[in-house]
Amino acid sequence: MTATPCWVIDSQEPDPQVLAEAGRWLRAGKLVAFPTETVYGLGANARDADAVARIFQAKGRPASNPVIVHVASVAEARNLARDWPPQAEALAQTFWPGPLTLVVPKHPDVPAIITAGGGTVALRCPAHPVARGLVQAAGCPVAAPSANRSTELSPTRAEHVLKGLSGRIDLVLDGGQCPAGIESTVVDATTLPVRILRPGPISAAQLAAVVGNTQEFTESAAEAGPARSPGQMAKHYSPRTPVRLVEAIDFTDDVLEASEAGKRIGMVAIHGPQAMPTDPAAYAATLYARLHDLDAQGLDVILIEAPPRTPEWAAVWDRLTRAASPG
Ligand code: TXA
Ligand code: MG
Repeated sequence: MTATPCWVIDSQEPDPQVLAEAGRWLRAGKLVAFPTETVYGLGANARDADAVARIFQAKGRPASNPVIVHVASVAEARNLARDWPPQAEALAQTFWPGPLTLVVPKHPDVPAIITAGGGTVALRCPAHPVARGLVQAAGCPVAAPSANRSTELSPTRAEHVLKGLSGRIDLVLDGGQCPAGIESTVVDATTLPVRILRPGPISAAQLAAVVGNTQEFTESAAEAGPARSPGQMAKHYSPRTPVRLVEAIDFTDDVLEASEAGKRIGMVAIHGPQAMPTDPAAYAATLYARLHDLDAQGLDVILIEAPPRTPEWAAVWDRLTRAASPG
């Protein structure tokens, strides 16, 4: 299959002509990957069920996993919802445009393939100038999951998108590294207290400041209630190389033993040489790029040193646990 074209675009002041052309491609039913403030998304016209079906094909995504729809404004989001609860309005007014996804009752016009047949739709208004400009230029809502093969690591650079999807999609807009580096916070806004379905850049404390208490998503809560987030299966966001989450990377034990056994080890440490940033947001911003790099080296194992167990690290912990999950 022919390689997917990749157009470089300025992340701060994207060329309007490039956005207009990419917007036409989307309207015409093509698949366009683009940077957002979280990770790269794989976009399709959300009003075109056939185009959305090609997203599922390109990613190898199970039809049971619904996709997020990206909009340019709160008004556009309301048009895709059957009901727009006050908590959705309050959160959208506070955090949009930004890395927050709101799950609300779906409008009948939203194609069933987007919601995996369910009664709710996930909506997000992205802040990244390229994502925002593209959704505006397309003139239609844009369905976009992360631009990776299903269960693999999300892409935070155009080269990550091409590694997984070149030849399977129509276009990549290369706007460089995504600033937040992990996926948006997903909140079920159909209930009060709202429920955090996926922790992310907008923290539980930030949400609580707007809508009062939040409920953490847990497996037991999922068993008790209905709408769990279908994408939150354990094996997700995983490198191909086996990942081990360790309390502390002990250079005299873990590393030396493994290297004496002839094993090639990659490390994601918070202490020692080439350590990750100790601020959780900065750590998240570089995590996937580090894992993509290590994954490309054909290592035997990637050791990840456990970060602090404090609320600011919740989103990072979620991704690390999944990366290390055997499946
Ligand atoms: O930051 C992000 O959210 C990125 C960028 C591209 O916007 N997108 C992203 O999409 O991470 P995806 O498809 O990889 O993850 C979306 C998550 C999945 O866990 C999915 O199951 C969940 O949102 N989701 C989508 N629609 C839902 C719905 N109606 N109800 C509950 N969960 C939903
Ligand atoms: Mg994803």
